[in-house]
Amino acid sequence: MSAIDLQLDSQGRLLHFLSVEGLSRHHLTEILDTAESLHGVAERRVKKLPTLHGKTVVNLFFEASTRTRTTFELAAKRLSADVLNLNIATSSTSKGESLLDTLRNIEAMQCDMFVVRHSQSGAAEFMARHVKPHIAVLNAGDGCHAHPTQAMLDTFTIRRHKPDFPALRIAIVGDILHSRVARSLIHALNILGAGEVRVIAPRTLLPVWVEQLGVQVFHAPQAGLRDVDVIVMLRLQRERMERALLPSEQEFFQQYGLTEERLALAKPDAIVMHPGPINRGVEIDSRVADGPRSVILEQVTNGIAIRMAIMSITLGNHARPAEENA
Ligand code: NCD
Repeated sequence: MSAIDLQLDSQGRLLHFLSVEGLSRHHLTEILDTAESLHGVAERRVKKLPTLHGKTVVNLFFEASTRTRTTFELAAKRLSADVLNLNIATSSTSKGESLLDTLRNIEAMQCDMFVVRHSQSGAAEFMARHVKPHIAVLNAGDGCHAHPTQAMLDTFTIRRHKPDFPALRIAIVGDILHSRVARSLIHALNILGAGEVRVIAPRTLLPVWVEQLGVQVFHAPQAGLRDVDVIVMLRLQRERMERALLPSEQEFFQQYGLTEERLALAKPDAIVMHPGPINRGVEIDSRVADGPRSVILEQVTNGIAIRMAIMSITLGNHARPAEENA
C-alpha cells in the first residue's frame, strides 16, 4: 500500500494525516471548513468542546518545535482529550530504543493518536504502517519531506484573507530545498486551484522536484515579487545543510530578504506569511515582520483550529467502522 493510500480508508475517508499529496480538493476543503467552524471556540468563556473526551493524544517530538507542538497540545486539550508530551531528550530513545519499540510501549498505554515529528523523512508513515488499527497518526513534520498541518494552516490563513484561489498569485521565498513547509504548501495550493505559485530562491536552494510541480521559478525577488497577493518567507534551514550553500547571511538578506522596498513590488494589499521561527535580518526585516501586512501571528492562532479539525476528522473516521467490518 502506498503512503497516499495508507492515510485513507476504503471509503476514501481520512484515517491518518501524513501528507497533502494525493488528497482531493474535497478532503482539503472539509478540513478548512471544519477549522472555520472551530475557530470561534477560542472566543468562548469555556474554550472546550467534548469531541475527544476520553481519548488520549501523544505528542512524540524527536525534533525541536515551539509552535507546532504547543498548538497540537492546545488543540487536543480544547477538544477535551488527555495529552501526553513525550520528551525525547529524556526518553529511552536516547538510550538506544528503536522507533518501533517506543511505538509499541506507548501503544501499550492505550493511546488513540500519535502526533509525530522526526528528522527522518517517512517517519510518520512508518508509524502509521505499524500502529494498531484504532490509532490515528498525524505528521507534524518529517525531515525535508512534508509538513501537512502547516500547509493546511497556511491555506486556511490565505483563504480567510483572500478566498478567490484561482485569482491568486503566491510567492514562496528562500530555502525551498530543505523546506517541508514549501513542499506541502505547493501541493495544497495546487489541489485548491491557486492561480499561480512562484518560488524565489538562489539556484543552490532549489530542488529539482520544484519544476515538476508546475511552479514558476524566479531567482530574483525584483521580478518574482511583482504583483503577488501572498508572500511566504522561509527560514534558512542551516541544520539541514550538509555543505555551504550560501556565501553569508548578510548577503542572503541583501539579495532575498523581505524589506519594505521589496514588499512594495507586491500588490498593495498583499499579505506576508512565515511558518516561524523567523530570523530577523536574515530572511525578513523587522519592519515587515511586525508591520501591518504581516499575518505571521495569525498563522499561529489558526494552527489551533486547523489541528482541532484534523484531529476530530481523523479520530471520527476511526470511530466509524469501515463498511466491510460493519
Ligand atoms: C517549520 C518546520 O519545523 O518545518 N516550522 C514550523 O513548523 N512552524 C519551518 C522551520 O523550521 O523553518
